Amino acid sequence: MKVSIFGTGYVGLATGTCLSEIGHDVTCLDVDETRIESLKQGRLPIYEPGLAPMVARNSGDGRLHFTTDAASALEGAEIVFIAVGTPPDEDGSADLQYVLTVAATIGANLRSSTIVVNKSTVPVGTARLVEEAIAGELTRRGVEIDFEVVSNPEFLKEGDAVNDCMRPDRIVIGAATQAAVDKLKRLYAPFVRNHDRFVVMDVRSAELTKYAANAMLATKISFMNEIANIAERVGADVEKVRQGIGSDPRIGWQFIYPGVGYGGSCFPKDIQALARTARQHDYEARLIEAVEDVNQRQKGHLFELILRHYGDRISGRTFALWGLAFKPNTDDMRAASSRRLIDQLWQAGARVRAYDPEAMSEARRIYGERAGLVLCDSMEEALGGADALAVVTEWRQFRSPDLTALRALGDAVVFDGRNVYDPAELEQAGIAYYGIGRGRSLRAPVPIVA
Ligand code: UDX
Repeated sequence: MKVSIFGTGYVGLATGTCLSEIGHDVTCLDVDETRIESLKQGRLPIYEPGLAPMVARNSGDGRLHFTTDAASALEGAEIVFIAVGTPPDEDGSADLQYVLTVAATIGANLRSSTIVVNKSTVPVGTARLVEEAIAGELTRRGVEIDFEVVSNPEFLKEGDAVNDCMRPDRIVIGAATQAAVDKLKRLYAPFVRNHDRFVVMDVRSAELTKYAANAMLATKISFMNEIANIAERVGADVEKVRQGIGSDPRIGWQFIYPGVGYGGSCFPKDIQALARTARQHDYEARLIEAVEDVNQRQKGHLFELILRHYGDRISGRTFALWGLAFKPNTDDMRAASSRRLIDQLWQAGARVRAYDPEAMSEARRIYGERAGLVLCDSMEEALGGADALAVVTEWRQFRSPDLTALRALGDAVVFDGRNVYDPAELEQAGIAYYGIGRGRSLRAPVPIVA
């Protein structure tokens, strides 16, 4: 099938590349000329494991194209995806300007009938607005062309996007006609050859499904962070509690890891947007609003622990910081908890030596050269001359640190924001250990079980 995709961010680029991988003829389109030129030369704007070789292979085979020219991209396209950003505007609502600009561009350039698929995360009712924007342009041109707007939300995770695309656990299709459903099923069939993973519904339900999925996952995280904070006060080890509940299939093992809060391009903005949508419909979504409040507070928790250890003796100290990305296997620092911690340490007069396996150039872009921050080339280098270590992202390479090097830190103390270390092991090595809901973070000691 001939497919066009507007937007070459995570979602657009991963979707487009995977669709070309299964044999479709895909054109990816962006208004950013530099980005398109780079992509033509095989340089990706994002770090995503496995994606670059796939882009190279499919471009080389002539199935994947990059352009800034909407008219040629739309020529004969049976399916057109909208996969552009929906950043939060000032009041937390999703800003639809990019989605609606693309819709207008489609209306202005469309020559033959097509299906327009909304992949961006957009509030319920947006498909209608997209339809109106396209129809408005067609009327202005005085032409009549058949089109239908379908909602087909994306559930891919950064760092695992290729796998999520190639082996989706479900494909949600929200459409008004059977013809559109059939067409999307044909498009995706190779991804789900052995199982029927299509969930077909009306457009609005599909739009809400995306928000419900993200809100549920974010709720699990904030819930577990609450339990960790309670554990700290009552003297329980939250990691034991996690193991004690995860085996119940109704609860499940995933997304119950306490930490320094969720970040990234989706959860923070989608939770806010959902709460905002509810308010626009005269409903106060108390649980959803609390999920985001708890997360905001949790992002400051590592600093709280640092304060507890140091009191007012933070100024002039140097903190090694391992992990800048909002999670492992990405270079994305949007809404990352590391940023909050860095700001708090600076405000308290401390210096930071930071290292991340992938996010160093992103950190350089965000912070540039500035006093109080040294961007290091390795995790060992970050420890050099530091008084304490804070772990903010659970990259695999941080999991078995050289304990002698940690012991040699000025104050021999570790603040573990993702519970990657064993408190007893570090304490035995002479290192003070603070975790989330465990270690010295507890205000009352945990009794030892023989
Ligand atoms: C998320 C959804 O998982 C995905 O389905 C949706 O399409 C987009 O949003 P992503 O933002 O890439 O994907 O990251 P995810 O792996 O879900 O992690 C989000 C944040 O939650 C990270 O900051 C992570 O550190 C944090 N997290 C995750 C926890 O704190 N604890 C957990 O148990 C799991």
